[in-house]
Amino acid sequence: MADEPLVLGIETSCDETGVGIVRGTTLLADAVASSVDEHARFGGVVPEVASRAHLEAMVPTIQRALKDAGVTAKDLDGISVTAGPGLAGALLVGVSAAKAYAYALGKPLYGVNHLASHICVDQLEHGPLPEPTMALLVSGGHSSLLLSSDITADVRPLGATIDDAAGEAFDKIARVLNLGFPGGPVIDRYAKEGDPDAITFPRGLTGPRDPAYDFSFSGLKTSVARWIEAKRAAGEDVPVRDVSASFQEAVVDVLTRKAVRACKDEGVDHLMIGGGVAANSRLRALAQERCERAGIRLRVPRPKLCTDNGAMVAALGAEMVARNRRPSSWDLSADSSLPVTETHVPGHHHHDHVHEVSKDNLYS
Ligand code: KG4
Ligand code: ZN
Repeated sequence: MADEPLVLGIETSCDETGVGIVRGTTLLADAVASSVDEHARFGGVVPEVASRAHLEAMVPTIQRALKDAGVTAKDLDGISVTAGPGLAGALLVGVSAAKAYAYALGKPLYGVNHLASHICVDQLEHGPLPEPTMALLVSGGHSSLLLSSDITADVRPLGATIDDAAGEAFDKIARVLNLGFPGGPVIDRYAKEGDPDAITFPRGLTGPRDPAYDFSFSGLKTSVARWIEAKRAAGEDVPVRDVSASFQEAVVDVLTRKAVRACKDEGVDHLMIGGGVAANSRLRALAQERCERAGIRLRVPRPKLCTDNGAMVAALGAEMVARNRRPSSWDLSADSSLPVTETHVPGHHHHDHVHEVSKDNLYS
């Protein structure tokens, strides 16, 4: 529909420079430039390297997205950007770019939450989110169960990891196995040829007195690392496929069990899974199986929309426009620890009052 808001979204919270363009809940472009190869030799994302890569990739990626979508910047109804959480320096590159474009073009600016964006992206694949929706958000930095009755304004955390994020555990175990970075996709691949029951690894926080919706992956990580060390110390080969499958099973067993439990307890009949780890094939399969058994409808975006991208930020921006949410001020800043409950960063006053600089000065 032509009257749905046309929004460009910018994502730079970690190592992907993402620029997406959507019209309402329709995806028009999803351009991503990744600096992951530059971080691989360090075994993790190096913030300074990420920031510089964002700076270099920003303008070309915006131009590519506009070209892919077949629209011009003038057509846009708004520009949204990840304001947090994420790496401070990396976020700042996206926020600065979004401000410059929005100001120069005279378009409203929306600083939005990265985690809410990971949930909202599913609208591009499966249409408007049911309200309420239970969301299992699993990425390199977060593992949370969130209940949302309106993705632009109400996200309530039910539980979260008390130590490592799920993706972090994948990355660390991959490092112990010398599989490179990021670890999730490689472990996913090896696990397909391994036996998930070969080794019994611990399921964190699943005891009767443990918090129902919190996660812990640090004990699992240590247990897998010790098991591998013991094999090596005994001079035996490490069965990479079986270790991958058994470790992965321990993670996704706990994630799906707690997510289904939360849906049942809260009387919610839709579960959404988002974030980079939602790309995991076994997590998707087991969640499908357990949701079907519990009468819960499962929504998981395709893998490319699960990992960090600009389309998810545009999707949430479009929803902000559609629901008449207040745009951010021109003094919007990046907040590396933006709480999950703050779906966006609304301006303290209306846009029009903040114009001090002349628009002509900005781009000359
Ligand atoms: O959402 P994301 O792209 O960035 C963050 O916001 O953190 O998530 C990245 C994380 C990494 O830890 C990566 O190993 C993990 O998602 N990941 C996966 C898979 N693909 C990416 N984990 C398990 N299985 C996968 N197929
Ligand atoms: Zn993410």
